[in-house]
Amino acid sequence: MNQEQFIVTKEHRRFTEFADTVRRQHTIGICYGQAGIGKTLSARRYSHWDKAQTLIGEWGPRDDSDAQVYAALGKSRTVLYTPSVLLTPRTLKEELDKVFTRVSICIEQHLTTVGKPAKRSDFPIVELIIVDESERLSPTAVELLRDRYDRNKVALILIGMPGLEKQFSRFPQFYSRVGFAHQYRPLGQDELNFVLQRHWRHLGKTLDLEDFTDAQAIAAIARVTRGNFRLLERLFLQTERVMKINDLTVITNDVIEAAQSTLVIGIS
Ligand SMILES: Nc1ncnc2c1ncn2[C@@H]1O[C@H](COP(=O)(O)OP(=O)(O)OP(=O)(O)O)[C@@H](O)[C@H]1O
Ligand SMILES: [Mg+2]
Repeated sequence: MNQEQFIVTKEHRRFTEFADTVRRQHTIGICYGQAGIGKTLSARRYSHWDKAQTLIGEWGPRDDSDAQVYAALGKSRTVLYTPSVLLTPRTLKEELDKVFTRVSICIEQHLTTVGKPAKRSDFPIVELIIVDESERLSPTAVELLRDRYDRNKVALILIGMPGLEKQFSRFPQFYSRVGFAHQYRPLGQDELNFVLQRHWRHLGKTLDLEDFTDAQAIAAIARVTRGNFRLLERLFLQTERVMKINDLTVITNDVIEAAQSTLVIGIS
């Protein structure tokens, strides 16, 4: 997703505040929320991972434009890590060490460029590790992260589905270090309207909240999606299709219902 498409929602701002606090307090935070409401995108945005991912992943020859990436990482001081499904603790350690070192080098590079080279007391220069899809972590992997947190005083955020906070309560040593549990929520009605206005525009139309047909369509969308971003996107793809096939020009309640019937919708 490119920068223009990302919508800075209230939930994204709450996530940013949460991450800043966890980072400042060198603690552990758990962020949980339904599938598809924007947790991963928020974390990517916060860590500037869209900019950094290729450079960190490939670690190839440098380019002048890389300075932008160094600056972005210098600002976020954050590593975003997504464990693979069959992750072993050894791989976790190796992968995390690798990405940690690479991000540190980028940040140091940035500090040198701006004339404030890192001192020994500045370490660890990475302040926060965000682990997405955290339910994939085995108990040993969790223990490994705790150890890293204790030793380096790097703040840690674990992102996952609702229930994640309970999953970790089975690890008392880990759990006792958790400073915050943050619930990522779906879009509220106001924001849903705002997002829908963009979708309407995308289809070359103007959404009028005072208009009965539009209001009905919005109510149908709110009912189907319950403010879930991913469902919203999928519903809109189908809506476009339904309109095209039937040669329709107005987004009505019926169009939304027809679009919904083609989706397999499951909200956990
Ligand atoms: N702030 C946003 N602005 C625009 N689109 C968004 C935003 N947040 C989420 N989306 C859309 O919703 C989709 C799902 O978001 P995301 O992958 O971040 O959800 P998630 O909460 O991480 O879900 P899961 O629990 O399944 O990993 C994205 O692919 C994107 O299309
Ligand atoms: Mg996700």
